[in-house]
Amino acid sequence: MKDDSQANNSIWMATADTPPQPGLQENIRTDVCIIGAGIAGLTTAYLLAQEGRSVVVLDDGPIGGGMTGRTTAHLTNAFDDRYVEVEKLHGEEGARITALSHTSAIDKVEAIVRNEQIDCEFERVDGFLFAPSPDDAKLLDDELAATHRTGLLEVEKVARAPIDSFDTGPALRYPRQAQFHPLAYLSGLTQAIRRDGGRLFAQTHATTIEGGDNAHVETSHGPVVTCDVIVVATNTPVNDRVAIHTKQAPYVTYVIGASIPKGSVTRALYWDTLDPYHYIRLQSLNDHDVLIVGGEDHKTGQANDCAERYARLEQWTRERFPQVGEIEFRWSGQVMEPADYLAFIGRNPLDSDNVFIATGDSGQGMTHGTIAGILLTDLIQGRQNHWEELYSPSRVTLKALKEYAGENINVAGQFADYVTAGDIKSVDELRPGQGAVMREGLSKIAVYRADNGAIHRRSAVCPHLGCVVSWNSCERTWDCPCHGSKYSAEGRVYNGPANTDLPELD
Ligand SMILES: Cc1cc2nc3c(=O)[nH]c(=O)nc-3n(C[C@H](O)[C@H](O)[C@H](O)COP(=O)(O)OP(=O)(O)OC[C@H]3O[C@@H](n4cnc5c(N)ncnc54)[C@H](O)[C@@H]3O)c2cc1C
Ligand code: FES
Repeated sequence: MKDDSQANNSIWMATADTPPQPGLQENIRTDVCIIGAGIAGLTTAYLLAQEGRSVVVLDDGPIGGGMTGRTTAHLTNAFDDRYVEVEKLHGEEGARITALSHTSAIDKVEAIVRNEQIDCEFERVDGFLFAPSPDDAKLLDDELAATHRTGLLEVEKVARAPIDSFDTGPALRYPRQAQFHPLAYLSGLTQAIRRDGGRLFAQTHATTIEGGDNAHVETSHGPVVTCDVIVVATNTPVNDRVAIHTKQAPYVTYVIGASIPKGSVTRALYWDTLDPYHYIRLQSLNDHDVLIVGGEDHKTGQANDCAERYARLEQWTRERFPQVGEIEFRWSGQVMEPADYLAFIGRNPLDSDNVFIATGDSGQGMTHGTIAGILLTDLIQGRQNHWEELYSPSRVTLKALKEYAGENINVAGQFADYVTAGDIKSVDELRPGQGAVMREGLSKIAVYRADNGAIHRRSAVCPHLGCVVSWNSCERTWDCPCHGSKYSAEGRVYNGPANTDLPELD
């Protein structure tokens, strides 16, 4: 998703200084072509360039214009789907590798920041998982035991998290977590990739992605990149029609950034055990801190009540942190939730051996994206990596069949939208800045009235697999409720799995 799509910008977008990159103007050749300049794509590019491989990175927006610009950037090995649950699906060894890989990812980010002297406010902090309801006390005990079985022995139970303004109740303390400014980090990676000979092109949409002997990537303005290896790091793969998209589901999550006196809340990462859960951290801004609070998740395209969700987040925050002042930032974004909890990183299923993907961030895309960089670099360089099987995109976790089925029944239910009435009967009902789906005969039309009054009309049928899109009034996007494709108000594709715009009307 590109930053020009958003009516709501993150604190990082407001405070980053990301140098603009040129668009691709001519055919070029490289060892590895990476599509997507978020944390997954840029970490992979950086590590490969460090090993002397020639890399080209393409992004159809600016660097970091996707979810990495909308994150809250907790870097954590406290797994948000819980190690108890990972063990049930992937066994004790799977949970152990999960913990080890996320720990290694935080260490890797720290090492890169140090070696490249990236000024991105990287900071080691504790993390606290607290249980607001006494009913969740057992959940903490079970999670502590499972976490210890993964080898994270320094995690401990404490009477409460170190917040003075309210009693969190018992909590698990995870030492040596981290936070940073994600766009400043990407900016540092970009400079290092260029120094090592890598080439980055922004505003360059990859239209066709072909692996095999004649591997190449075609771009929307014509130039072609030929290469030995392709990495698709577009948050959700745009080169995979079905295989991955039946195994993960898109969720929208909301964030507010509230001004708060410096030092009035202990710098740490905080999460509660609710579902959806709240996630909290601090960021310095000029003479004060910003308390960043996220939550209120729902399946993409299946709710359009962001104002209420922001209001609930604000109320939750003010009740617990009465010292907060103005709400300075409100933003939202999308996370991909794999049915069996772990990211999909490796060879693209049913494709040539030289096409790789990274997806399935599960709200832990800072570490999953870094794991992708480490793992894909090993696979591309022909090295063994004992994380490969756990993260394989081809895996089918039999114990998660119920979860797969649940998500796919939900997707099937979205096709009922074909026969429902539209949201409006006439474009006259639209105010400037509003969009809605309208029925015309048998067709569903996505209609948007721009601020200047101009009307934009496209088919409301998502070109991925044909679900009807919904209007997202906060982000001013069309969101597909099936697998999370997003389009600008005018119908331009921002987020996969679709890779083409909403169809023009005849
Ligand atoms: C509100 C919010 C809070 C979050 N909080 C956390 C957190 O605290 N900790 C954490 O670990 N994770 C968190 N996440 C998740 C994390 O931000 C993401 O998982 C991560 O940033 C994804 O990185 P990525 O590189 O995979 O994708 P992105 O950053 O989305 O990058 C993909 C890039 O691909 C480009 N692209 C797409 N299609 C094409 C195409 N056809 N051609 C060219 N380019 C293309 C896009 O423009 C984009 O720049 C959060 C996410 C959100 C939305
Ligand atoms: S994203 Fe799959 S049908 Fe729209």
